[in-house]
Amino acid sequence: MIIQPKTRGFICTTAHPEGCAANVQSQIDYVKSRPPMANPPKKVLVIGASTGYGLASRIVPAFGGGAATIGVFFEKPGTDRKTGSAGWYNSVAFEKAAADAGLYAKSFNGDAFSGEMKATVIEAIKADLGQVDSIVYSLASPRRTDPTDGETYRSVLKPIGQSYSQKNLNTDTGEVDSVTIEPATEEEIAHTVKVMGGEDWELWIKALNEAGVLADGFTTVAYSYIGPDLTYPIYTNGTIGKAKEHLEESTARMNEQFGAGTAYVSVNKALVTQASSAIPVVPLYISLLYKVMKEAGLHEGTIEQIQRLFADHLSSGSAPELDEKGRIRIDDWEMRDDVQSAVAEAWENVTTENLSELSDFSGYKNEFLRLFGFGLEGVDYESDTNPERPLPSE
Ligand code: NAI
Repeated sequence: MIIQPKTRGFICTTAHPEGCAANVQSQIDYVKSRPPMANPPKKVLVIGASTGYGLASRIVPAFGGGAATIGVFFEKPGTDRKTGSAGWYNSVAFEKAAADAGLYAKSFNGDAFSGEMKATVIEAIKADLGQVDSIVYSLASPRRTDPTDGETYRSVLKPIGQSYSQKNLNTDTGEVDSVTIEPATEEEIAHTVKVMGGEDWELWIKALNEAGVLADGFTTVAYSYIGPDLTYPIYTNGTIGKAKEHLEESTARMNEQFGAGTAYVSVNKALVTQASSAIPVVPLYISLLYKVMKEAGLHEGTIEQIQRLFADHLSSGSAPELDEKGRIRIDDWEMRDDVQSAVAEAWENVTTENLSELSDFSGYKNEFLRLFGFGLEGVDYESDTNPERPLPSE
């Protein structure tokens, strides 16, 4: 099959196996080019391991520290007539590269929110690794079925209290228009917290602890975002922000409960991923941010961010540096005053006409396509490729 991108808004319904493999390989190459970490984890569980920040969180300890990894994700394998999802092909490529490097890697495709998935992963840890010393929780999902009551909750991306109007970028047409989003209901807020808050993270750590598979001194980390004032109504002060508040409260609860290890929240940079491209207003902010950060030589992608998270904080040999609220801040370069004031000025002035001059919209689009394995150097997109790719560990 010849595989081409088929995009609709913030979704691309196809993915290229060789392109995804090239994307994974370039992340592996980056990690291998970095100096060794002082104290890397050896047995790592990544929940949400197939794309974005979670994929990078699997690659960094594996190829930067020789760690055995277990990855959990929710992806679609390809068939002889239909392409699989990018996260599937990424995971196939990751496992192949890990096997070539002599590293243990096992993956589980299914619902991380379920009790069954937790039990399956615990069995695999017991059988193959004994214990894990690092657990990364990097899920981004629009819905969650709570195993305790069987109810399915849906998350929404809405402001709280009042409607929010802001400039917005139509990523299909390149038009800068505006968007008004009505405030969430109390129920929508509660449901978003159910899906994207820390409840399931806590359930994972509790289950792993009760099964005796957490090593003494383990660390667990989940990812949050803050960003600038202009996205506060839709992010930090919106429904997703409420969920992130809950995630942060989870660290305190877990640190009280599980004395043998430490839970952290890391606040990461805004980057193009499948999850972030679905948030209104954010793609315009990211396009402007990329331009400013690239020009200042400060730009990072998921792999550079997570490399820095492990090298400087989680695996540096000493305790991570935390902000006044106890969080790791790898969004520090994004939040620098000079970066933020340049973005704010561009935000004021940006229109459809000057979009390509003031922003890095072309970089945004290229990076979006790369998420699905398109536009990578050295990949022959004209040649026939087989969409059916089994996971080596299955
Ligand atoms: P992503 O969409 O690239 O990755 C989501 C991962 O979750 C994938 O591996 C997917 O397979 C997995 N997943 C989704 N539902 C699942 C389910 N039911 N069972 C098992 N796996 C499931 O998202 P991204 O952007 O990497 O987000 C990860 C975390 O990082 C989120 O908490 C997000 O809020 C946070 N974050 C993202 C930022 C961004 O700009 N992209 C910035 C700061 C934090």
